[in-house]
Amino acid sequence: MIIGKPSDIRSSEITPRSVYLRRREFIGKSLIASAGVSLSAVTVASEQLKSLDYRKADFKNKEGFYTNEALAPYKDIKRFNNFYEFGSDKGDPEKHAQNLTVDPWSLTVEGEVEKPGVYHLEDILKPVNIEERIYRLRCVEAWSMVIPWQGFPLADLIERFQPSSKAKYIQFETLHRPEEMPGQRARTSTIDWPYVEGLRMDEAMNPLSLIAVGLYGKELPKQNGAPLRLVIPWKYGFKSIKSIVKIRFLEKMPMTTWVSLAASEYGFYANVNPQVNHPRWSQGSERRLPSNFFSPNRIPTKPFNGYAEQVSHLYAGMDLKKYY
Ligand code: MTE
Repeated sequence: MIIGKPSDIRSSEITPRSVYLRRREFIGKSLIASAGVSLSAVTVASEQLKSLDYRKADFKNKEGFYTNEALAPYKDIKRFNNFYEFGSDKGDPEKHAQNLTVDPWSLTVEGEVEKPGVYHLEDILKPVNIEERIYRLRCVEAWSMVIPWQGFPLADLIERFQPSSKAKYIQFETLHRPEEMPGQRARTSTIDWPYVEGLRMDEAMNPLSLIAVGLYGKELPKQNGAPLRLVIPWKYGFKSIKSIVKIRFLEKMPMTTWVSLAASEYGFYANVNPQVNHPRWSQGSERRLPSNFFSPNRIPTKPFNGYAEQVSHLYAGMDLKKYY
């Protein structure tokens, strides 16, 4: 992975928390106005987003679900992206993802489950309760952002498919549609598409593991992984796979895109760990975006990205230098 250059995002552009909190009420109202009559997947997602009572915000009381650190501005979260299906520059996803068809969308469920099948996105979304989480996202390239997501616990989704006792791991797969994803057509790409990621079952069931469908109270932008993406805040950002079309429940640890590209640089676990450097750069600190040349906003990186209290028990007794 190439270290990005987020220098054009000024720290003065950070959205003040009070402005964001006031704006959320307005966003809820505009979603009501824009909701259509047909129950397309996008409409179901909008309906779900508007049903969230922003003023209650009781998620703040749940450990790890909330941070009061400065949020990255909406426009930066959607213009500075890693989504190699649309190109390798940080601005490529915003430029090239807009023609991606996300409606209709379906999710295929396979492997060690009682209820395999092909599920329409509408049916995935109808029963869920959308929640808000404000998480730190720490990329392996040593930059980070604080992002307000809307979504639902991955555990709720997993339980609906009734995994068998053999299901020890889950593999996730991104859409493969070269006609709409120029990065998948590029001859120079070294990625063996589709992009795949994986988690151990207990990691997937942790309450922090989120399926995001919204950002800043609006539908998830396509460049951020619409209509469904994973957000695993204690792991490097590449685990948070976008635009998911398939979930496989497996007995054995699955292959992942970054392990297959460079196993000595990117591990299956990929827990944020300032003690284990990337072979080509330090993981001891990160640039918190927005940042620029004069105000680099460099901060120390925390073990498990600051979520050790919620997740370190998952790795008790494991040598995290070996299982990076
Ligand atoms: N998912 C897919 N399918 N393709 C990708 O290239 N990039 C990952 C992750 N999910 C990626 C992906 C990386 S490296 C990061 S840091 C995050 O998405 C970035 O998420 P964001 O662009 O929403 O900030």
